[in-house]
Amino acid sequence: MLVFKEKSALRDYLSAQKKANKTIGFVPTMGALHDGHLSLIEFAKNACDIVVVSIFVNPTQFNNQEDLEKYPRTLDNDIQLIEKKTAKNSIVFAPSAQEVYGENVSSSHFNFGPVASFMEGKYRNGHFDGVGTIVKKLFEMVEPDKAFFGEKDFQQLLIIKKLVELTNLPVEVIGCEINREKCGLARSSRNALLSKEDRLESAFIYEILQQAKADFGTKSVIEIEEDIKTAFQQHPVLKLEYFEIANAKTLAPFSSQKEKYRAFIAAYVKNVRLIDNIALN
Ligand code: PAJ
Repeated sequence: MLVFKEKSALRDYLSAQKKANKTIGFVPTMGALHDGHLSLIEFAKNACDIVVVSIFVNPTQFNNQEDLEKYPRTLDNDIQLIEKKTAKNSIVFAPSAQEVYGENVSSSHFNFGPVASFMEGKYRNGHFDGVGTIVKKLFEMVEPDKAFFGEKDFQQLLIIKKLVELTNLPVEVIGCEINREKCGLARSSRNALLSKEDRLESAFIYEILQQAKADFGTKSVIEIEEDIKTAFQQHPVLKLEYFEIANAKTLAPFSSQKEKYRAFIAAYVKNVRLIDNIALN
């Protein structure tokens, strides 16, 4: 499998593929790959001739230095996984920060509008500017026909759609469903930082989301939110950061049953931060 570290070599390879009329699918990641990432690669493989997987732990989207430092980095294993699962037609782009940013490791500012002001936007200052900055740079390097993002980071998916709208980049953004462990916990690179016991405790996040889904339409949104806050207060390990029910298109608060809604959670297990969400209707 081809692994590129330099954008010029990647560009040369991809422009030859494009000349041969091959379509390019793109799956941006920060590595420490798991079955959730592999499911995106599978979607991309079924939709495009060539799949580019980028592996880059992007410093500008971390609002917390310790989180950036402890983020798992497993490049050799990631390459092997992609090779084993997707064999031919996948290539990896694993650049250094210098290759991506040069000397100026900083974010551009984007006007994503209200969608960036809730939840992750509120609790992780500067996070979406960092995500927008790296994804724009990667889109410009790869020039994919289609790019695949997980609904696990649902707000990020909406932000990327907005980014494409703002920048007019000719790429189709495709959302892919959440891949879960057997216990229901959404797969995440951060799960690797959890002990076995804490991982089992974390299944509570999905249980709570399912409870919210069952109650949606019978209890009021305020009641559901109260129930969930109380359930977390009684939990021995998990600390709730936010639970919100929000419009699936705009992320605005609940207003009418006629619209589509999702429930979103961020919670800490010790010092590991996990997020998840579920469609309610
Ligand atoms: P990362 O957390 O590595 O995730 C890469 C992609 O995999 C994202 O689109 C994410 O939503 C998706 N993903 C992660 N876990 C998933 C799961 N359990 N089921 C389905 N999809 C899942 O998200 C990022 O990296 C970064 O912000 C990035 C977009 C690469 C920019 O740096």
